[in-house]
Amino acid sequence: MTPSEKLPGRLVVLDHPLVQHKLTRLRQSTTSTAGFRRLAREISLLMAYEATRDLPLEEVEIETPLERTTGRLLSGKKLCFVSILRAGNGILDGMLDLVPAARVGHVGLYRDHVTLEPVQYYLKLPDDMGERLCIVVDPMLATGHSAIAAVDRLKAAGARQISFVCLLAAPEGVERFHARHPDVKLITAAIDRELDSNGYIRPGLGDAGDRLFGTK
Ligand code: URA
Repeated sequence: MTPSEKLPGRLVVLDHPLVQHKLTRLRQSTTSTAGFRRLAREISLLMAYEATRDLPLEEVEIETPLERTTGRLLSGKKLCFVSILRAGNGILDGMLDLVPAARVGHVGLYRDHVTLEPVQYYLKLPDDMGERLCIVVDPMLATGHSAIAAVDRLKAAGARQISFVCLLAAPEGVERFHARHPDVKLITAAIDRELDSNGYIRPGLGDAGDRLFGTK
């Protein structure tokens, strides 16, 4: 049994028809940079809806134009999105469309060519991480190394409630991630077949950063 299978509810594959339709368009090599960016933003908004379903609410008294009543509002500290640079920024926008008051952190990591380990070049997180739901975003969970390194940094900063949202995951990445961080909920739109020898997810969508920003 894989680490994820041992943890029901820790792995969510969002099979909503709108998400799957947009994801298929996103995968297509003929999709333009503008189209890719728009689709990534739209899917992320839908993923944010799922990722925020457990946010705490508190009852408040309000007045409608007709009478006093009670309603429910989000309670506690604002949630925090943490983008893994640079591709994470491509799905951060859709998340912020849905939760515009969220705080935002950034983690910059690159892979050392010799050790192949992620090396941090940037880290900026909001304060009070222990009191916020933290949602880490990166479109691709491939080897899992960057995701693990990012969550390591969040935990070191005091974060206790963490979710990870991606668009595509490789089975190898999911296993490695949950072996290290079994307490972190993983939300993805699909788990693809495999990781190839170059670290690309297959069938995948190519290099998410390049497709988002029109680089090569
Ligand atoms: N990062 C990407 O952008 N694409 C992959 O397939 C794997 C990692």
